[in-house]
Amino acid sequence: MRILNIGSLNLDYVYSVDHIIKPGETESSDSRNIFLGGKGMNQSCSLAKAGAEVYHAGMIGRDGTAFLDACREFGVRSEFIRVVDVPTGHTVIQVDKNAQNSILLFGGANQALTETFVEEVLSYFGPEDILLLQNEINLLPCIVDRAYARGMRIALNPSPFNSRLEEVDLRKISVFLLNEVEGSQITGEKEERNILVGLKEKFPEASFLLTLGVKGAIYADRDQEIFQPAFPVKAVDTTAAGDTFTGYFLAGVSEGVPVKEILRRCAMASAITVSRKGAVPSIPYREEVLSRLERELH
Ligand code: RIB
Repeated sequence: MRILNIGSLNLDYVYSVDHIIKPGETESSDSRNIFLGGKGMNQSCSLAKAGAEVYHAGMIGRDGTAFLDACREFGVRSEFIRVVDVPTGHTVIQVDKNAQNSILLFGGANQALTETFVEEVLSYFGPEDILLLQNEINLLPCIVDRAYARGMRIALNPSPFNSRLEEVDLRKISVFLLNEVEGSQITGEKEERNILVGLKEKFPEASFLLTLGVKGAIYADRDQEIFQPAFPVKAVDTTAAGDTFTGYFLAGVSEGVPVKEILRRCAMASAITVSRKGAVPSIPYREEVLSRLERELH
């Protein structure tokens, strides 16, 4: 089963700070790193490192060709990544001493997708493939409608959550991969139990992977609910933890791994991700995840 990810590619400018800056405040940082990131790219790398066959589609500027090298390195198919005359998307990320982050996002080339491009990419995929989306690119409503019409299963990570998602027909989504904040924004509920009930009521045919930060994650569909606690770890940078979860989850689904086992892999993979700096480079390969899980059992 192939996975097509139409998603963002961002250059992440990551600054270490004492605390997340407040309005009107000036704070200096003594460490800046530039990492490859973007929710789309992170999730494609997570999928590939987990062993899935993944095709990334999206747009970068001439300043973003490092993404093509990274795709080659990590095994992400890149023939649907176009280089356009718009700067590559970028972020300014502050990471504080507790490993929490705040992200300022400039869309750039991620907002330059055209209907012609989308149509061309989708024409190579069909009902046997999964489409993965996040909310950092333009044309999301059109992509969902056209992929659904082609019979594709659509997985959505509704992140970052904003009013543009209101234009998307969420009834066409088969799998939601989201955190509590996004779940709350979709359902209007605050408590984790009520969020799940609300999601199931709104989308009875869908399945859900609700991540709960340090608590872990819950998988739910109409027949079952499975809770997976997080593996305790000293966090250094939480960027891409959710993206790692998403990639490992869909990789497991595409391989037919039982959900309980998929969730263990997701939890271990994202525990490793948060113990390292950066987005793409922090995501572990499958071998590392499986051997750490093996050690947990002994
Ligand atoms: O989910 C983490 C990602 O969000 C970062 O890599 C950054 O690019 C933002 O898109």
